[in-house]
Amino acid sequence: MSQIVHLNGKFLPIDQAFVPVLDRGFIFGDGVYEVIPVYSRHVFRLEEHLTRLQNSLDGIRLVNPHTNAEWAALINELIARNEGDDQYIYFHVTRGVAKRDHAFPKDTAPTVFMMSSPLTTPPRELCETGVSAVSAIDNRWDRCDIKAIALLPNVLLRQLAIDHGAVETILFRDGVLTEGAASNIFAVENGVVLAPPKDHCMLPGITYDLVLELAAANGIPLEIGKFTESRIRAADELWLTSSTKEILPITRFDGHPVGNGRSGAVFWKMHGLYQEYKAKVMRSPA
Ligand code: PDD
Repeated sequence: MSQIVHLNGKFLPIDQAFVPVLDRGFIFGDGVYEVIPVYSRHVFRLEEHLTRLQNSLDGIRLVNPHTNAEWAALINELIARNEGDDQYIYFHVTRGVAKRDHAFPKDTAPTVFMMSSPLTTPPRELCETGVSAVSAIDNRWDRCDIKAIALLPNVLLRQLAIDHGAVETILFRDGVLTEGAASNIFAVENGVVLAPPKDHCMLPGITYDLVLELAAANGIPLEIGKFTESRIRAADELWLTSSTKEILPITRFDGHPVGNGRSGAVFWKMHGLYQEYKAKVMRSPA
């Protein structure tokens, strides 16, 4: 079965899906996107993702082309038409096809593109060893709360990690932790989970919110605030979170071990809670 995608109301094989070159997504990166994990064919935190989509659309002044019920139906059809029980749905909305002009076009239909890909969650061995990260100055714009498809700064920042044999780049703006190039970042200090605030400097991660919820529900101490680079470097544990990577411990940062260099006790507690939560979602009606 070939990968089936959705483009502007039609389901079709990916190699038959084309977008005109004047699409503003292609020309300007003028659009927003979402990535939603699907476990055992159950969409994970759909409502939260659709709320964030609405916020992103509002942020770029683009009308939502679908109701939440329509989005849910499209996503479920895409899941059904693709192979594999665990998938992730990428979808984006652009300001459509128009003569090139920075200003918004009038009466242009947005472009809606959706695809499903196989989801491979991090294996246990990776949770045990953890991953490496490097640091960089956060040189992005100040609306990082919008999940914009214009990702060039994130692309360059994430490539920096790859160039150094690491998986993620941890970003600091004015000496304060913001997030990763493609993930949110948490630290643990003396058993307390430290998280940056959801402001314009970071994407409000759906996984980030779940980690906060699970910490609050299970009595894990939590502090939300602006954390300096030196505090982050001295942390006992660092984690990254995202819809495709779930929660992963960062055990090396800029070539130095984080804490004792192994995945920490608070990580394992949170990992267990996250997996339990996932299992509950998978048991619920699709
Ligand atoms: N990225 N911050 C940034 C800059 C991100 O790109 C992502 C996720 C996150 C985590 O958000 P969430 O928990 O909702 O996935 C934070 C996705 C997975 C991507 O672009 O592929």
